[in-house]
Amino acid sequence: MSSDEVTALLREAYLDELETVMNYLTNAIVLDGVHAEEVKTSLEEDVDEELEHARLLGQRLKQLDQSPPGSEQFDAQQSSLQPPDDTTDVQSVIDGVLDAEDDAIETYRSLLEAAREADDPVTEDVAVTILTDEEAHHSEFRGFEKEFPMD
Ligand SMILES: [Fe+2]
Ligand SMILES: [Fe+2]
Repeated sequence: MSSDEVTALLREAYLDELETVMNYLTNAIVLDGVHAEEVKTSLEEDVDEELEHARLLGQRLKQLDQSPPGSEQFDAQQSSLQPPDDTTDVQSVIDGVLDAEDDAIETYRSLLEAAREADDPVTEDVAVTILTDEEAHHSEFRGFEKEFPMD
């Protein structure tokens, strides 16, 4: 069993993951400077994980007899994660990643709750699996943030 709320959240999360893939990929390419290398490497690894999240969500939608959305249903949200004008501004990318991971954590908590209410333990399991990765991403970038003195 599942619910309309569950499938709506699965579709929303699918698009969020693909936007995250685009912005992590772009920022991993554009950043410059001695402070950028570790962040770039981490973003590159996370691109693969975020893409796998989209794949899990899309497959779950398919199992629920729904289609994951195509690009025409996409509405960009991640304004704080746009590539910075100053390509050595690693701090701006770290802040954008923390925003994106905060949003992801909130979405998967909502999905978890909706799946539980709908008596859909399989989607609940998908939400917990992905939430575990997002909390790890958030924690890693909070670590990077501590290395960068504010102003
Ligand atoms: Fe993700
Ligand atoms: Fe993430």
